[in-house]
Amino acid sequence: MRKKLAAGNWKMNGLSASLTEVSALIEAHPAPVCEVLLCPPATLVAGMAAVAAGRIAVGGQDCHAKASGAHTGDISAAMLKDAGASHVIVGHSERRADHGESNADVLAKAEAALTDGMVAVICIGETEAERDAGTTLDVIGGQLAGSTPEAATGANTVIAYEPVWAIGTGRTPTLEQIAEVHDFLRAELVKRFGAEGEAFRLLYGGSVKPSNATEIFAVPNVDGALVGGASLKAADFGAIIEALSQA
Ligand code: PGA
Repeated sequence: MRKKLAAGNWKMNGLSASLTEVSALIEAHPAPVCEVLLCPPATLVAGMAAVAAGRIAVGGQDCHAKASGAHTGDISAAMLKDAGASHVIVGHSERRADHGESNADVLAKAEAALTDGMVAVICIGETEAERDAGTTLDVIGGQLAGSTPEAATGANTVIAYEPVWAIGTGRTPTLEQIAEVHDFLRAELVKRFGAEGEAFRLLYGGSVKPSNATEIFAVPNVDGALVGGASLKAADFGAIIEALSQA
C-alpha cells in the first residue's frame, strides 16, 4: 500500500552538464514501478524539472522556514516549488551539523514545506557516539517527535533514517539494526498519528549502492532509500531503482 520511493540527494554536486545523467536515467528507466525523486542543488532545480518533465520528481535539499523576507542567501519552499520542485529534504545531518539546525528549526522548515503543498523529506539519525552509547532509539525518537509537523500525513511527509556514521563512509548498519530502527519509527508514527502512521514512507539512507540495495530493501518497513553519492550517476541510481522496483 505504500508506494516505494527511490530518492537521490546530489548535495553540493552538479553543474548544468550533469543534467545529462537525468536524461540518461529517464531513458533507461522510462516506467519505474517505484516513485523516483532527485534533489539537486538549488541552482539546478529548474533545469532538472525541465528535463524531468514530470517523469521523475524534483526536490530541494533545504528550505527557509519563512516564505520570503530579508534572509540573504536563503531559499523558501515556495521558491523551490515555483522552480519546479515538489519535495524538499529538511534536517539532513549535514545541515544539522554544519548549520546547527535543531529539531525546532527542522520542524519549522517542514511546516513551511507542507504549507506550500510540498512533500517534506525529514531526515533523522544517530551519530556513531550515540550508537556506541546505546542511545540510538532515544535520539531518533526525539528527532522524529521534534521535527515532524502535527499536520504530517503519509502523503505529505517522508521520514529518512540516516545514521550519521553511515553517510558517505561506505559503512552500513546490519540489516537487524536497520530493521530495529524502522520498526521503532513505524511504531512511534502509529502511536502519534494512529492508522495514518502506517502510510508514511520510511527511507533508509547512508552508503546505499547497487551492491547492497536489494538486501536493504528486503528489510520490513524499509520503503525506499535516500541515496547520496550513488545518485550522481544514472547507472548506479538506475540499478538502485531496479532493486527497489523488484523488492
Ligand atoms: P551517501 O549519502 O549515500 O553518499 O552515504 C546519503 C545521504 O546523505 O543522503
